[in-house]
Amino acid sequence: MSTEQQDREAQLVERVLASFGGTPDPRLRELMRALTTHLHAFVRETRLTETEWRRAIEFLTATGHLTDERRQEFILLSDVLGLSMQTITVNNEAYADATEATVVGPFFVEGSPEVEQGGDIAHGAPGEPCWVEGTVRDTGGSPVPHARIEVWEADDEGFYDVQYTDARVAARGHLFSGDDGGYRFWAITPTPYPIPHDGPVGRLLEATGRSPMRASHLHFLVRAEGFRTLVTHIFVEGDALLTSDSVFGVRDSLVKRFEAQSAGTPAPDGRDVGGAAWSRVRFDIVLAPAPVPAADAI
Ligand code: BEZ
Ligand code: FE
Repeated sequence: MSTEQQDREAQLVERVLASFGGTPDPRLRELMRALTTHLHAFVRETRLTETEWRRAIEFLTATGHLTDERRQEFILLSDVLGLSMQTITVNNEAYADATEATVVGPFFVEGSPEVEQGGDIAHGAPGEPCWVEGTVRDTGGSPVPHARIEVWEADDEGFYDVQYTDARVAARGHLFSGDDGGYRFWAITPTPYPIPHDGPVGRLLEATGRSPMRASHLHFLVRAEGFRTLVTHIFVEGDALLTSDSVFGVRDSLVKRFEAQSAGTPAPDGRDVGGAAWSRVRFDIVLAPAPVPAADAI
């Protein structure tokens, strides 16, 4: 490429950067300038053609058209690009042995039904019963009582209740840790399912030879006064999809042993599981302290 061509391209970047120089909000100025630098570098490095640029605009337009209050195709795009996971990684710095965070996904709903300790969050969702137990502790090892533990998951046909055609609430609920930080509940053994892939993001995955499948998981959101809110999942040890999760959500520390229990094995709480096989898993949660607010935010 000629020096003249290089100069023209570089001068354009400088002009756009300068156009944001007067942005009163310093953080917005920083973000817009960094965005300009990286987007222009992408176009210059790949020598993006005008046809490719038009197709990219068409793709984003289709993504917007599919997005409404029930379907968020932009978040899905961020998820499959690993951007959601990178933002979570940046914002949940490793802290002692605090449990790692992962993507929230589009299926969390506020206001899930409360269950007692030992209750069943399946609420009739099809799937193998799974006994889940553990503790909520701080990084010093002390119990965190009364933490609000939200859990949600897909049924064994791969659907969350919000994808059902009726208004049934199933495979979601919340409970509170006890005085000793302990918790226990029944759920269903997680099974793999695809992220919604009937839109532009699905077409992108197909064009790039990628699978929409998520590794089997059970979502948790844990909130307690004075602690960093934890959004995470646990994954099933041995799941073949652990290394190809479509949204890059798997972390080694979140892979747990779901122990298969053959039919007839007595349940820990004496529940009659109808003679069916069931599974059990232990998940001990460690919460990081809430960040100290910056002095100018107080
Ligand atoms: C989920 O795990 O529910 C999920 C996460 C990201 C995209 C789609 C689904
Ligand atoms: Fe999920």
